[in-house]
Amino acid sequence: MRPAPGPEGSELVDWAALQQAAVHVMSRAHVPYSHFPVGAAGLVDDGRVVVGCNVENAAYGVALCAECGMVSQLHATGGGRLVAVACVAGDGRALMPCGRCRQLLWEQGGPECQLLTPEGVLPMREVLPQAFDADDLGRGGAVP
Ligand code: THU
Repeated sequence: MRPAPGPEGSELVDWAALQQAAVHVMSRAHVPYSHFPVGAAGLVDDGRVVVGCNVENAAYGVALCAECGMVSQLHATGGGRLVAVACVAGDGRALMPCGRCRQLLWEQGGPECQLLTPEGVLPMREVLPQAFDADDLGRGGAVP
């Protein structure tokens, strides 16, 4: 499906290629417990594409989301900022990241990072409104 028109600049992203990269890595997911594979692909500001898949564990709570793997690869391969991200489920269609992973994407891409969603391409500022981030830490930690 062709994504709906997105925010300014989103037409410069090859969304089909990014979604395909997410589908490819989704096929590598380790999901013996949920049987719910997820793939994530991110376009970095230097043109790299980083990917990740979910990896589950017999201790269910320590499962790694696909976005975690993608963010680890981002830093393991040189860092940079995420400018566009596609996450897909086993059907290959866009999947909304869980709450924790929205926070991860915010940290690595900021409010203008674009996300492929079931409703088209949206900026992170709409996907995670009023996000907590490093600026909030600037308030200081003094106990009143
Ligand atoms: N999952 C992700 O990988 N990313 C998300 O944003 C949502 C959930 C994974 C975690 C678990 O392995 C499976 O999907 C079912 O929750």
